[in-house]
Amino acid sequence: MTKRTVTLIEGDGIGPEICDSVVRVFEAAGVPIQWEKAIAGLGAIEASGQGVPQETLESIKRNGVALKGPTTTPIAGGHKSVNVTIRKALELYANVRLAKSMPAVETRFQNVDVLIVRENIEDTYAGIEHYQTANVAQCLKLITRQGCEAVIRYTFEEAKKLGRKRVTCVHKANIHKITDGLWLQVFREVAAEYPEIAADDIIVDNCCMQLVARPEQFDVLVLPNLYGDIVSDLCAGIVGGLGVAPGGNIGKSCAVFEAVHGSAPDIAGMGLANPTAILISSIQMLQHMGYIGYAEAIEKAMVAALSSGAKTRDLGGTASTTEYTDAIIANLSPVTQTEPVATTAAMDAKPLSKASMSSWDCVGLDVFVHHDGLPSMPQQIGNFTLRLMSNRGTKVWPGPTPDILLVDHYRCRYVSDAPISRQEALGVLTELTAQQVEWLHVELLWNDAGEAKYTKAQGE
Ligand code: NAI
Repeated sequence: MTKRTVTLIEGDGIGPEICDSVVRVFEAAGVPIQWEKAIAGLGAIEASGQGVPQETLESIKRNGVALKGPTTTPIAGGHKSVNVTIRKALELYANVRLAKSMPAVETRFQNVDVLIVRENIEDTYAGIEHYQTANVAQCLKLITRQGCEAVIRYTFEEAKKLGRKRVTCVHKANIHKITDGLWLQVFREVAAEYPEIAADDIIVDNCCMQLVARPEQFDVLVLPNLYGDIVSDLCAGIVGGLGVAPGGNIGKSCAVFEAVHGSAPDIAGMGLANPTAILISSIQMLQHMGYIGYAEAIEKAMVAALSSGAKTRDLGGTASTTEYTDAIIANLSPVTQTEPVATTAAMDAKPLSKASMSSWDCVGLDVFVHHDGLPSMPQQIGNFTLRLMSNRGTKVWPGPTPDILLVDHYRCRYVSDAPISRQEALGVLTELTAQQVEWLHVELLWNDAGEAKYTKAQGE
């Protein structure tokens, strides 16, 4: 059988010890892959001055798959996080974590087996933040149709491949009507292409409550970036903490798998490291590559080793990293399904759709203004009428003005009865500038066949 090459980044601290455990288990199971070692992290900074050398990125791109040990991020020296660098350089749009109950890992819950897929690029993590005034900071929650579709289609493809039955979309579309509304709408569109998989949705706060009450009810969760960040750690806690939490970052043409925990410098080189998390990550990696048979065999052997009491100190046992790895190898059974299952990269399954603005009309603009106390704004500028002013999202003009905390940041909504051009919108700003209004930023208001593509103010 031809062997596929996988990039192996051992990382820092306990990284080499836990990666060695994976290498030994794979060899014993006869997994048809060969490793190509590459460096990243503190070791790489010392060797090359860069946390992620270009050769390492080239190796991942060439092989399409990498297994990464934890890396130490130096606090001084202005070095960027290795994980963020890799994620951005390779556009790894989906973060996948498995939260599965393990024997010998004491938790309140049994029979938990949830796959959590988190969008990895967009949302408030796009990093678009501005101070609007000295008192008001703003972060843009950026949600795109294509970004949603990529991660949601990946989720359904993965669910199909792994024989999972249900995908649940997590959102807050009752509050974030436009952004999470788009996320939910795209979820429903993509779900319709997979009639064999049940699809439903849940509001993120209820999801958290349900997870800590009855986590076994969930199969696959797909979440936008911020909720996914929080809920995936919550799920890790449910099955025994970050020590046993695996993860993968999936891109269009590359995927990088790693444990969620760090480099544990306090126990590095002492033979105490628990390789379970990176082993489960490597099982996820095999599933990703279609080597389902090997993934199953290694998982069974690991469960058998843990059940027999072979566990490392962090799980209350006395086994060293090597002894635990030996126990897994001793429990390996022959793999019957050695051929990889054919897999389609989700992004190749279907081109991403692109909606058009051809039926949209611009009908006004929201001008955000710096002012202490309610500003006196012109009520008519050409065809534009001042419809409302709001402060922190609540309507404060026309009256009655509610008795609320007012900050120095007002949204002034100017609307027109007829569609407007950008030139006309610019005319509003020119007039406001002439009247010494300290405008800060502007949003155009769009209608699609009469349907507003913006939200109303509280009280409007
Ligand atoms: P950490 O996860 O390395 O360690 C926290 C505690 O958990 C320590 O007591 C450690 O001994 C223990 N621990 C972690 N993994 C273990 C394992 N597999 N077996 C047994 N015990 C384990 O977190 P910490 O101390 O905050 O970070 C150390 C370094 O790791 C930092 O430089 C940090 O930036 C980096 N880090 C890297 C990550 C990555 O590369 N994915 C993720 C998180 C942190």
